[in-house]
Amino acid sequence: MDPARELLHSWTIPVDENIFHLTLHREDLTSLYPGMIRYVLEATGPGRLPAHFITNTYEYSPLQPGSAESAARKTAEIWGGELGRDPDELFRQYARSPSVHPSGPAADLVIIQGSPRPDGNSAILATWAVNAAHEAGRTAAVIYPHDLDIHPCIGCYQCYNTGTCVFDDDMGSVIAAVRGAQLVIVCSPVYTNTVPAGLKLVIDRMQAYHAERALNEGRTDQKALMYSVAGRKGEENFTCIIRVLLGFFHTLGITPAGEVLIDSADTVHDIRMVPGKEQAVKTQVRQLL
Ligand SMILES: Cc1cc2nc3c(=O)[nH]c(=O)nc-3n(C[C@H](O)[C@H](O)[C@H](O)COP(=O)(O)O)c2cc1C
Repeated sequence: MDPARELLHSWTIPVDENIFHLTLHREDLTSLYPGMIRYVLEATGPGRLPAHFITNTYEYSPLQPGSAESAARKTAEIWGGELGRDPDELFRQYARSPSVHPSGPAADLVIIQGSPRPDGNSAILATWAVNAAHEAGRTAAVIYPHDLDIHPCIGCYQCYNTGTCVFDDDMGSVIAAVRGAQLVIVCSPVYTNTVPAGLKLVIDRMQAYHAERALNEGRTDQKALMYSVAGRKGEENFTCIIRVLLGFFHTLGITPAGEVLIDSADTVHDIRMVPGKEQAVKTQVRQLL
């Protein structure tokens, strides 16, 4: 994404023999979210990594005093003063190399297995998919959100400033795995009509990947499959979870390419007894890898 950018202010600050620059830009991110405006303050100087202060309007919740614009303008005023007095101190505090999510070993197929039960029906679905990938000579990795350290999203919207999350936990490697995959599969049981809590953590924290993709024009060639198991009988038990997972794939910019939904799991107990399901999974995976 290349946001519409407007230069609000530019300062040139000579200090001894050196010239420092401070610019304040207003970027319009309404193509991401209605009314989202980002303010980017940048200080540059000879031989220094640039220092940035970035803030966007969505960071300021309704009851919070102040605004992104006032924070950016106030910071510009402070930085202008600091650059004139002690530029080294300002760059020491605020200059950063651009941060990106860590990348892990890429697998062709990444499966997010949403059940807390590693030996349940969703895990069986995941295993069928892994076997299909291996049979096709491709690599596969399974992520178990319940085994990971993933802090809930706090809605700070700072990922739209930097493309990364404020939390440094296991979600970085989940994002790296998804970023590198050709095919992403979510296998999930239905819990109270939707996904279990551990998977919901991953879904919400993927907002940082949405930000990363939106700000850096991420790939658009990835496909997704949706596999789900419901205890009760009837297709209607999948109504909400389908919407949740379609929303998830939409956030990731990944094209949904199929599903396998198995109801009555509480009665069937073991989905390996349901004819045709393993074959359905294997056919889909083979077609998409
Ligand atoms: C907390 C909880 C909530 C559940 N909610 C639903 C539900 O809303 N609808 C449904 O059909 N089954 C529900 N179930 C049943 C599970 O979907 C079913 O047992 C499923 O096979 C479990 O998948 P797993 O073997 O992969 O863990 C629930 C199970 C649990 C533990």
